[in-house]
Amino acid sequence: MTTDIETKSTNENTTENTTESTTENTTETTTDTQTVNGGEPGTLDAAKLDTFVTRAISDLSAGYGGVMVSIGNRLGLYKAMAGAGPLTSGEVAARAGCAERYVREWLGAQVAGAYVDYHAISDTYELTPEQAFVLANEDSPVFIPNAWAVPASMWFDEDKAVETFRTGKGVPWGDHDGRLYCGVAAFYRNAYRGSLVAEWLPALDGVIEKLAHGALVADIGCGHGHSTVLMAEAFPNSRFSGFDTHAGSIREARTIARGAGFGDRVRFEAASATDYSGTGYDLICFFDCLHDMGDPTAAARYAAQTIAPDGTVMLVEPFANDRVEDNVSPVARLYYAASTTLCCAHAISEGGHTVLGAQAGEARLADVFRKAGFTRFRRATETPFNLILEARL
Ligand SMILES: C[S@@+](CC[C@H](N)C(=O)[O-])C[C@H]1O[C@@H](n2cnc3c(N)ncnc32)[C@H](O)[C@@H]1O
Repeated sequence: MTTDIETKSTNENTTENTTESTTENTTETTTDTQTVNGGEPGTLDAAKLDTFVTRAISDLSAGYGGVMVSIGNRLGLYKAMAGAGPLTSGEVAARAGCAERYVREWLGAQVAGAYVDYHAISDTYELTPEQAFVLANEDSPVFIPNAWAVPASMWFDEDKAVETFRTGKGVPWGDHDGRLYCGVAAFYRNAYRGSLVAEWLPALDGVIEKLAHGALVADIGCGHGHSTVLMAEAFPNSRFSGFDTHAGSIREARTIARGAGFGDRVRFEAASATDYSGTGYDLICFFDCLHDMGDPTAAARYAAQTIAPDGTVMLVEPFANDRVEDNVSPVARLYYAASTTLCCAHAISEGGHTVLGAQAGEARLADVFRKAGFTRFRRATETPFNLILEARL
């Protein structure tokens, strides 16, 4: 029945006759509601329904499109098109070493989603510079394809999520499908690469000067360590320690750092936010991880014990306002969804003393640091994706 409404609504929308469309939708809808409500009459606003169905179908379409983006990325199809101007499907296929018939259908999906331009007169396909910046340039701060690995892992782990809703139990970070770790690392790495050294660190009070002179830095919950490596590259006089409870991520971080040739200036250890080694840190960083922890206040308290007296905590958290009604956007939706199956699930697996979630907002985060003994807390800067907060004793 629902499918019936959606089909009719969509079909009617393609016609010129809006009045007929509305009538058709209203009739279908009322019948449907009575059925769904077990016979109780209900009324639906046909225009609102139409808007919402259009929205839901567009989201569904985006989900299908995400699979195409991932395939295009893995096969180098976007890169084959970047900067090449108009190409036939055969030329795209040849450049990427793929079968033309599949590539042609894939290109149709790209054109339908406005991810590729189509020139009917020459039957050619073109990736514009803007599309290439998002789809083909791995160094761009808005390179999107790797991010689709995260929802792919979430789908793969759907049964686990369903089970947690029923039982209230958690899922540790390390128990998810492997695509999660690379997806998260790659997604955040590009944002860090664009902003961390150029904008975020300079927004902290006096930190750049210390790092340039020679500082001791701890990167807590460092994952694959991209943030650690970026800071180590920029500040050769400073020493960096990355800590994370996920042994697989620490192994990956060590491999990445070894490739960069830092020697013993950069080290990675499997350790939690409440038992890592060392004290006297001039800078302690939490990149998109405090809200994942089962007891963030204990983590902040441990930071208060291990930081130098005039040291700084840099807390990077997903952008969020303090109230649910102010977190209504595509970015908030993405974060709330990931938070449901990943962040909350991990925090609960660690005991769930305080389950902040990925949309905690500045006020709740400030409260964590106030309870841990910090006396100064401020928003240093922000991006559409992140809050960059500074805490000091
Ligand atoms: C969303 S990932 C972010 C990783 C990395 N900071 C980045 O920005 O790419 C969260 C990380 O926090 C780590 N983590 C969660 N709870 C932790 C804890 N109690 N102590 C240390 N690390 C923790 C997870 O293992 C995971 O690598």
